[in-house]
Amino acid sequence: MRFLFVLLSVACCHVAAEDGSQAWLRYAPVPKASEYHSLPASIVALNNTKTSPVYVAGQELEKGIKGILGKQLGVDGTSKASSSIVVGTAEAYKKAYGEFEEADELEPDGFFLSTEGSTVLIIGQNERGALYGAFEYLSRIAQQKFSPVSYVSNPHAPIRWSNEWNNMDGSIERGYSGPSIFFRNGFVVDNVTRAAEYARLLASIRINGIVINNVNANATLLSERNIEGLGSRLADAMRPYGVQLGISLNFASPKDFGGLSTFDPLDPAVDAWWANITNKIYARVPDMSGYLVKANSEGQPGPLTYNRTLADGANMFARAVKPHGGIVMFRAFVYDNHINESNWKNDRANAAVDFFKDLDGKFDENVVVQIKYGPIDFQVREPASPLFSTLRKTSTSIELQITPEYLGQNCHLVYLAPLWKEILNSDLRADDKPSKVKDIVSGQRFSRPLGGWAGVVNVGTNSSWLGSHLAMSNLYAYGALAWDPSLESEDILGDWIRLTFGFDARVMEVITEMSMKSWPAYENYSGNLGIQTLTDILYTHFGPNPASQDGNGWGQWTRADKFSIGMDRTVKNGTGNAGQYPPEVAARYEEIETTPDNLLLWFHHVNYTQKLKSGKSVIQHFYDAHYEGAATAQTFVPLWESLQGRIDDERYNDVHFRQVFQAGHALVWRDAINQFYHNLSEIPDDHERVGNHPYRIEAEKMSLNGYKPYKVSPFHTASGYTAIVTTTNATVGTASANITFASGTYDLAVNYYDLIGGKAQYSVSVGNRTVGTWTGDLEDKLGHAPSIYLDGHSATRITFRGVKVAKGETVTIVGRPNGIEPAPIDYVSFLPSGIVD
Ligand code: GCU
Repeated sequence: MRFLFVLLSVACCHVAAEDGSQAWLRYAPVPKASEYHSLPASIVALNNTKTSPVYVAGQELEKGIKGILGKQLGVDGTSKASSSIVVGTAEAYKKAYGEFEEADELEPDGFFLSTEGSTVLIIGQNERGALYGAFEYLSRIAQQKFSPVSYVSNPHAPIRWSNEWNNMDGSIERGYSGPSIFFRNGFVVDNVTRAAEYARLLASIRINGIVINNVNANATLLSERNIEGLGSRLADAMRPYGVQLGISLNFASPKDFGGLSTFDPLDPAVDAWWANITNKIYARVPDMSGYLVKANSEGQPGPLTYNRTLADGANMFARAVKPHGGIVMFRAFVYDNHINESNWKNDRANAAVDFFKDLDGKFDENVVVQIKYGPIDFQVREPASPLFSTLRKTSTSIELQITPEYLGQNCHLVYLAPLWKEILNSDLRADDKPSKVKDIVSGQRFSRPLGGWAGVVNVGTNSSWLGSHLAMSNLYAYGALAWDPSLESEDILGDWIRLTFGFDARVMEVITEMSMKSWPAYENYSGNLGIQTLTDILYTHFGPNPASQDGNGWGQWTRADKFSIGMDRTVKNGTGNAGQYPPEVAARYEEIETTPDNLLLWFHHVNYTQKLKSGKSVIQHFYDAHYEGAATAQTFVPLWESLQGRIDDERYNDVHFRQVFQAGHALVWRDAINQFYHNLSEIPDDHERVGNHPYRIEAEKMSLNGYKPYKVSPFHTASGYTAIVTTTNATVGTASANITFASGTYDLAVNYYDLIGGKAQYSVSVGNRTVGTWTGDLEDKLGHAPSIYLDGHSATRITFRGVKVAKGETVTIVGRPNGIEPAPIDYVSFLPSGIVD
C-alpha cells in the first residue's frame, strides 16, 4: 500500500520526462481545453492516399487534437459532416464542395485557415500548403489561441531549404548532436524513421526542401546503391511531409568517380555524364528539388580549374536538372584561402563580389546563387554581404547557420533570430531605393523568379535534434522567418516556448530573458566592435584564440598589433570593400564617424585609444564588454534554476548542465581575450580587473606532487599562462595549498581542461573533507568540437557551492590521468557570495 502511494505521488507531482524528440510538436494537453467550444466533430482529409501530405495532415490533426484537447476525432476522406475540419487543396475542395473564394489569393505552398463557424477550413494552394495549414491550426490550439480567425498565409519566398552537412561515413561537418540520421559507413541508412520524423518537424515550420549531404561533397553518393537509397528510402520517407530531397555535388565527380579524364564543364562528355547521372537520380527521385554546389572554395574542385567561369559551372548542372524541373543552388562562398596578409589591400571579404559581379545575367534561369549572410563566414557580427545588392539579374538566396559553428556550438545559448533579423532588415539602398536583404532574396526587389533561404541545420541522432533543447528555438525561428521575415524575434520565441515548455509564466519570462540577452552577451565576450568571433579559426572554431585570425591565408584577419586593430576596408586607404556596397551604404561605412560602433573594426583600422561614440576607447570597450558579457552568462544559471519543478527534470537537468558550462566557459573567453589584448597593447584596464584575480590560487603555485607546471598554448587560455599536468600519464598528481582567505563560506571553482582522448578523475578537498569529485568526460556530455590540447576549447570550470572554509586549512586536488588526459588544472577560486572571478 505504501509502495503504491509513493508511486502515485511520483506520478502525480512530477512533470513527465521529455527527451526533446517531439520538439514543438508535443501536443501536450492544454489547461483550458474545455474553453474551445467550437471544435468540430470530425476531420475530413480530401486525399486518402497514404503518401499525400493531405492524408498526413488528417492524421496529424487527429493525433494533435487528441493530445492537446483530449478529444478523439475520426478522419473521413469522403463526406463533409456538418461540423468538421476540412483539409485539402483548393482544387480538391472545389471539386468536392463547389466554390472556394480565397483560391485566387493563394500562392504556391500558401494556405487558407478559417476557424469561424462550425467548420474549420484548412485549404492549401497545394498539398504541402494544406499540411502547413494543419500545423498552423494545431499550433494555435496548442497555444490556446481559440478565438475564431480567418486568413490566408503565403510564403515570403519559394525556396525554404535546410542544408545538412552530413558525410557519407555518418559524421557531420559542424554538427554537435551526434552522428548522421541519413548516412552510415558510406551508405544511405536502412532505417529512415528518424529522417521521416525530421521531415515532419521541417514541414511544421514550412521548410520545403532538404539537402542531406555536406557541401564538401563525396561523389560516392552517386553510386547505384546510394541512388537507390535516396529514392526508395529517404525521398519516400520525406515526401509525405512535402519535403523535397536535394543533394550536394562534388564538381570533380565525372573524373574522380565517373572515370572520365576531365571535369571541364564545357566538355561535351562531362555535360553528357552529368545529364546521364541526373536522369538516373530523377528516375528514382522524380521530385528531387535539385543540386547544391560548392565549387572552387576551400580546396573544392570547380570550373576555375579549367579557366571556365563559375557561371559555366553552374549552368552545366542547370541544364542537367532543367528537364526535371530542378534547380541549382550555386554557392557564392568562393574565395582563395591562401591570400597574403602583408598586402594591405587583400581582403577575403571582397571575394564574393569580385568573383560574381561580372557573371550577373549569365546564369541560367534555374540557378540560384546562395549567399552567406555576411562577406566572411557566419561570424558573431558581420554586415550584410554586398553581393546581395550586386546581383540584379540573378536569383539569390540567403544562407544562415542554425548550427552555431562560430557561436558556441550549442554549448552556449545563442538565440539567433535577432542576428538574422538585423541582416534581413539591412537596407542596401541599391539605386538609392529601399533594398532590404529580405526583399532581395524573396525575388521581389529585382523581380527575380526564384529566391529564398538555406539554413545549415546539422541535426544528429541525439534525441534533442541539435544537442541542446534551447537551441531548437533557432530552428523554429529559421522556419518562421523564412515564411515571414517581418515577424519579431521575441514573438517567435514566445510561440516556441509555449509549444515546447507550456504555459508557466515564469518559464516564459526566464527563457525569453535568457534568449534575448544571449546574442549580445556572446558577442560581448567573444568578439565585439565587428572584430569577428575571436575563436580558433585553425582548429575547432569553439573557444578563444584571437592570434589564430592573423598570420595565415584564411583572411579572417584582425590586423592587431601593439597600437592598433581592425581591417581597413575603406576605399580611400584600405581594401575597398566598403565600395562594394551601393553609394549610400558605401559612404556610411567609408567614414569612422558614420560607421556603427558594432562594425567599427570590420571597416576600419584604428588605434586602441580610438574613442567610440560611447566615449570609451576601443580597448576599454573590449575589456568592459568582455566582463559584461561573461557576467550576463553567469545570470543564466540562477535564472534557469528558478525553473526547477516547472519543467520536466530531464530537460531541466540537460539545460542546467549546459548553462553551468556556458557560465564557466564565458569566463575562459573573457580572460583569454582580455589577457591577449592587454598583453599586446600594454594598456591597463581602467578598472584594474584584467590579469588581477584576487580570489584565485594558481595551480602552478601550489605544492605539487606528481604534477608539473605546463605552459599552455595559446598562453592566454591559462590563468597566469601556466597550468599543471601529471608528470606521466600513469602518475596520480596532488596539488595543495594553504588557504589564506578569511574563514567563511565560498563557492569553490576549479578551472581545468577536459580533453578528448581520456577521462581523468579528480577530487578536491578542504582539510580532510572531500568537497567533490568529477570526471573529465565533457566530450560525452556536451557535443562541441573537442580538442586534444590544453587550450581555449578544452578549458572549463566546475563549481562546488557553499563550501565552508577556515583560514589556514589546506585545499588539495588529486588528479588521476587517463588516456591522453593528464588531469590538467589551471587554478582554484574561492568565491565569496556575489563575486565572479
Ligand atoms: C566554413 C566551415 C566549413 C564549411 C564552409 C562552407 O568555413 O568551417 O566547415 O565547409 O564554411 O560553408 O563551405
